[in-house]
Amino acid sequence: MRLLLTTSKGIEDLASAEVSSLLDRIGVPFRVEEKPLGVEGRVLVEMGEAYYTDEKGRKRELSVATYLNERSRLLHRVIVEVASDRFEGISEDEPEKALRRIEDFVSDLPLERYVKTSESFAVRPFRKGEHRITSLDISKTVGKAIFDRLSRFGTPRVNLDHPAVIFRAELVGDAFFLGIDTTGDSSLHKRPWRVYNHPAHLKASIANALIELAKLEGGSFIDPFCGSGTIPIELALRGYGGRITCLEKYRKHLRGAEMNALAAGVHEGIDFILGDATRLSEYIDKVDFAVSNLPYGLKIGRKSMIPGLYSEFFSELAKVLEKRGVFITTEKRAIEKAIAKNGFETKHHRLIGHGGLMVHTYVIE
Ligand SMILES: C[S@@+](CC[C@H](N)C(=O)[O-])C[C@H]1O[C@@H](n2cnc3c(N)ncnc32)[C@H](O)[C@@H]1O
Repeated sequence: MRLLLTTSKGIEDLASAEVSSLLDRIGVPFRVEEKPLGVEGRVLVEMGEAYYTDEKGRKRELSVATYLNERSRLLHRVIVEVASDRFEGISEDEPEKALRRIEDFVSDLPLERYVKTSESFAVRPFRKGEHRITSLDISKTVGKAIFDRLSRFGTPRVNLDHPAVIFRAELVGDAFFLGIDTTGDSSLHKRPWRVYNHPAHLKASIANALIELAKLEGGSFIDPFCGSGTIPIELALRGYGGRITCLEKYRKHLRGAEMNALAAGVHEGIDFILGDATRLSEYIDKVDFAVSNLPYGLKIGRKSMIPGLYSEFFSELAKVLEKRGVFITTEKRAIEKAIAKNGFETKHHRLIGHGGLMVHTYVIE
């Protein structure tokens, strides 16, 4: 079986390491490939069957897709691959030709193995790159091909709102992919604990990627611009043993973070402080790790305030940080200046896709 796993761009290596560690635990042989067909934000896993022994000693099949949906912190979707291929030159194809190529490809697939005639289905499309067709064209064409194929075996049922089986059809550049989306319509990064919706919240999958990059070894932890608490909450949910602090300047967001932590069942494990990160040393003497999604110009109103804010914050951080910090921001120039001016060294830099942008991420010591 092959599973296509989706995540944010730029964290495929971390998602692949997480999936490998989860699959090692259930003893299934597997192979992981980052960016299959060159597609970013995707990881492909090819594996054998997984089994477990039930209470009566019988060998039972284990659904790896369900296991990954339940246990992963970095994935967005778990999709069982039906088929994938490269459609050379599809970007330049006339719309009719491009859609015919997709329809011919899908019609030949043994789709009846994936949907029972009693089950309804829908197609959810995803398209990225230069094409002369839209995602709506793709969903209509793939939907028709699936319908025609299934009609040979019974009367297919389409239900666009509440389908029993969700087909996912992706066209990214010239890579086409068809699969069964086992995650459903709500991506895994939309956590059920999010009862307060901060306007600039971080995806939970990226919060976990930052936590991975911080290589925490126990000890105290702070998110000095914690907003609705995504990073501290995700860390607490991982069972982190050290003290976790969530610092935020605005009462509304801090209350929101507390509500989220209550919903997540981790309120007891986090200290919430209403305060200004540019006066960090007034609240804490020292801290081992700091991980944060810094305020970006667009979100806090005046972009001209950013260099000053970062400069003051990093100078405070230099007084208290003992081990490592991880920061994500769009403001490359301001953060690099503040890092260098305050005696920190950048140990790692990468770009991560967030909110349609590639955002800079720094690991500093
Ligand atoms: C990008 S948001 C963080 C979002 C957060 N990671 C989440 O997922 O909800 C930045 C936060 O920093 C807060 N902030 C801005 N200036 C601050 C300061 N001087 N001290 C502390 N927090 C500040 C903003 O109110 C905002 O909530």
